[in-house]
Amino acid sequence: MKFFRVPKDIVFGWGSLEYLKQIKGKKAFLVTDPTMVKAGVAERVENYLKEAGLAVQKFTEVEPDPSRETVEKGTKLMQSFEPDWIVALGGGSSMDAAKGMWVLYEYPDITWEKVFAATPVLRNKAKFIAITTTSGTGSEVTCAAVITNRSVRPNVKDVIASMEISADIAITDPELASTMPPKVTAATGVDALVHAIESYTSIAATVIDKAIALKAIQMVFSSLPKAYADGRNQVAREDMATASLMAGMAFTNSFLGIVHSLAHQLGSEFGVPHGAANSLMLPYVMKFNSIAVSELYAEIASALNIEFYDDREAVDKLIKAIFQLQEDVGQPHTIKEYGIDEKTFIGLLDNLAQNALNDACVFCNPRVPSLEDMKNLYLAAYYGKES
Ligand SMILES: NC(=O)c1ccc[n+]([C@@H]2O[C@H](COP(=O)([O-])OP(=O)(O)OC[C@H]3O[C@@H](n4cnc5c(N)ncnc54)[C@H](O)[C@@H]3O)[C@@H](O)[C@H]2O)c1
Ligand SMILES: [Fe+2]
Repeated sequence: MKFFRVPKDIVFGWGSLEYLKQIKGKKAFLVTDPTMVKAGVAERVENYLKEAGLAVQKFTEVEPDPSRETVEKGTKLMQSFEPDWIVALGGGSSMDAAKGMWVLYEYPDITWEKVFAATPVLRNKAKFIAITTTSGTGSEVTCAAVITNRSVRPNVKDVIASMEISADIAITDPELASTMPPKVTAATGVDALVHAIESYTSIAATVIDKAIALKAIQMVFSSLPKAYADGRNQVAREDMATASLMAGMAFTNSFLGIVHSLAHQLGSEFGVPHGAANSLMLPYVMKFNSIAVSELYAEIASALNIEFYDDREAVDKLIKAIFQLQEDVGQPHTIKEYGIDEKTFIGLLDNLAQNALNDACVFCNPRVPSLEDMKNLYLAAYYGKES
């Protein structure tokens, strides 16, 4: 038996934010970050919800890679307001923080361990709307939330993975993403690409997941450089928003792989933005995984009109095309080039590799990694060598 599960309502396309005017309910709790407040988008959302007849309360303090503390702080305010809708507005950080708050709001006595191990049934108190403002994480349609634990060293990103936290309504309005500066456009866009590639090669991928993922890969390759070069290119922005949405739909069903496991540690410990961290690991992990799935990489290469003689050449040319894409959107090829201090990185290497091996995304990777493999992959990505 196989499943394909996504939110019941996915509203997308330029101007789709206005869908909020149709929401029926009493009280909406808006979770967002300071950028969205400054840009006036939080106010637009608030006004639409008020037009729909809802009272609105806001939590606007979500930081990139949100921590358990932020989630707990937002939950306190949420509990005093007692909303019947939770509305997340922002990138993956705001959407994930809101998902975490939702669980704690419904179960005030729950422990973090329980939240990650077995998320209980939700929707006894509220339903959830996720509005994305980046084109990368796909969190508006995924069953995942990434919350950083800053009380341990190195810091660790823990993943809530449960259909319970999948949104009731997902809104992907490219107009919101069109204000992303080039750096954020690039990093989040590569995140979408990694979602699609890891989904395509996941051991749990179905033919449905793969069809959606492959189209998303084609769209990222053709539109990310354009959106990066000219943020006002409406067609490229629409393509990237849709590609990110599709990659999210694919990977929430197929799950991911060790590009994410390794990247999570670069984000939690060194503050590398999630997409940039994925970008740093992607080519090296593809080389490592190619022993298991070279024919799948060859299929991706074909879809990108890359000509090749055999699967081995397809893998090499696909990896080259990814390095080229990184260059086109200003992403460095190595962790060293990114600027992480060598001594600090090597000093933490054993712990980083162990945490990466413990990460939830390991399980669907097409090749089972050892601790040594994880270390070698970090070293390969640090110095730009093959592992
Ligand atoms: N839940 C999931 O399925 C999933 C998947 C992948 C990643 N993640 C997690 O999501 C987080 C990263 O999310 P992200 O990459 O979307 O970035 P983000 O939400 O951290 O945002 C990055 C920065 O861009 C700003 N920003 C967002 N939208 C903008 C816009 N339209 N205009 C201008 N600035 C804007 C934000 O304020 C922030 O400063 C990480 O914690 C990552 O682990 C979650
Ligand atoms: Fe991601």
